[in-house]
Amino acid sequence: MIRRRRVIFMSLAVAFATFLYTCGNNNFIYFESLQRNKQCACSFCTSNEDDDPWFTQRYKQFIEPLLTRSNSALSKEVYSWWQSLQFASHRANYTAVIEKLFKIFPDNPQVMDTEPDLCRTCAVVGNSGNLLGSHYGKLIDIHDFVFRMNKGPTKGFETDVGTKTTHRVIYPESAVDVDNSTHLVLAPFKTLDLQWLISAFTTKDIKRTYKNVRTTIQANKNKVMVLHPAFMKYVYESWLQKHGRYPSTGFLVLVLALHVCDEVNVFGFGADKNGNWHHYFEKVRNNAGAQEHGRNFENEITVQLLTKMKIQIFRGW
Ligand SMILES: *[C@@H]1O[C@H](CO)[C@@H](O)[C@H](O)[C@H]1NC(C)=O
Ligand SMILES: *[C@@H]1O[C@H](CO)[C@@H](O)[C@H](O)[C@H]1NC(C)=O
Repeated sequence: MIRRRRVIFMSLAVAFATFLYTCGNNNFIYFESLQRNKQCACSFCTSNEDDDPWFTQRYKQFIEPLLTRSNSALSKEVYSWWQSLQFASHRANYTAVIEKLFKIFPDNPQVMDTEPDLCRTCAVVGNSGNLLGSHYGKLIDIHDFVFRMNKGPTKGFETDVGTKTTHRVIYPESAVDVDNSTHLVLAPFKTLDLQWLISAFTTKDIKRTYKNVRTTIQANKNKVMVLHPAFMKYVYESWLQKHGRYPSTGFLVLVLALHVCDEVNVFGFGADKNGNWHHYFEKVRNNAGAQEHGRNFENEITVQLLTKMKIQIFRGW
């Protein structure tokens, strides 16, 4: 009996050694590159080697967040999901729009590769009223990247929200002018949004989507970026498990930051200390709207990310 066990053990050991020997080189390179991707020089890092299953189940390391000419072809699933998000009175030819898009905007948006020995810190700044009186301005501005979204202004609110904006994520209905040094990042919810981006920098003839929109915006066209529809679907399915209709801008930016930053600090998310959901630049309204199912789920996931120490949240109170 003992002898038989030993024989089995020996053959297993030999088999294992052979396995290691025959594909050892590949394995070695694989592990090395895996580790390299997971290193970062911050005091805490969004991706750690000891990642827990909750996080790794949701986080697709190799998804490409930005649209480029070469990754622009959409699978049937992505295309039909994306087309269904918002009503469009006519469906443009996506391929033709993409061709036009990358004649105007850079095709090699290099945000973002994380390198070892580097700590890219990011502030994701939402528009919550909990920023008021927070005095977070200086803290926000020391981050390498400062992501802001939609109309959230800095002018007049510098003490609480800071002055720096490296990336501003918008869609046509929420667009504002940005500085020459800021990356304008479009979150497209329909092909018309891509057409609007082209129009805003060229003919300026698109005046309306499902509502009136700005016909033009000031921004450096060499710094324009577009979120990939497949990335948006990934956020919706993998992170939100299809809660709500589609992700909010804030949640899209949060997941974007998980992919491009080593350290993610979140400001201006959630309700204020009185439980009101309102924008720091608008008057307090009552609780309307924001308690919608999808938003609550986003909030839960954000808190989970905090619990798992993937992000830090600064609540202002
Ligand atoms: C869409 O545009 C592409 C590129 O311009 C063209 O090759 C294709 O035939 C068009 N498809 C349709 C259905 O019009
Ligand atoms: C903005 O930056 C671009 C280079 O990225 C430069 O060509 C352009 O002149 C700048 N515009 C202004 C108004 O500073």
